[in-house]
Amino acid sequence: MSEIRTGLGWDVHRLTAGRPLILGGVAIPAARGLDGHSDADILSHAITDALLGAAALGDIGLHFPDTDPRWKDADSRRFLAHARDLVAQAGYRVVNVDATVILERPKLKDFREAIRQALADTLGLAREQVSVKFKTAERVGPVGEERAAEAQAIVTLQRG
Ligand code: C5P
Ligand code: MG
Repeated sequence: MSEIRTGLGWDVHRLTAGRPLILGGVAIPAARGLDGHSDADILSHAITDALLGAAALGDIGLHFPDTDPRWKDADSRRFLAHARDLVAQAGYRVVNVDATVILERPKLKDFREAIRQALADTLGLAREQVSVKFKTAERVGPVGEERAAEAQAIVTLQRG
């Protein structure tokens, strides 16, 4: 009997000068980047939480506390790869990943295929299994005022 499970992930980080903007492990040329203990890759963090959530394995902070010096400036692809391994050990395979990054600027659509491929490589998936979408916040609220950026993700797993 097949068992399908879904998981939801969300993240937000502040935008600040002098930090890189890294999304799904891809460095995006931008005037400002994301502040945080790790590399602050909101997209990887949201997908990590979605993977963990789908298998009911807790959340990113349980596995990678931001008080732990090991994760200072960490490459968030390590979190993604670890979540992928935990999900596999629990007996699931990833069917697909869908995500949205909400960022006022720069425009990200030219980076879509690079981000999809990078995420697919990290997760051991085909690019066709990974979808990434982009939205502005229409200049409203902390994201619209360019003080922060958000990412949302949903993951579907199948047992076996
Ligand atoms: O937010 P809005 O509806 O205006 O976004 C329209 C389109 O602009 C999105 O569907 C996406 O293709 C693109 N976009 C982008 N980079 C962003 C925000 C939106 O490429 N940072
Ligand atoms: Mg985060």
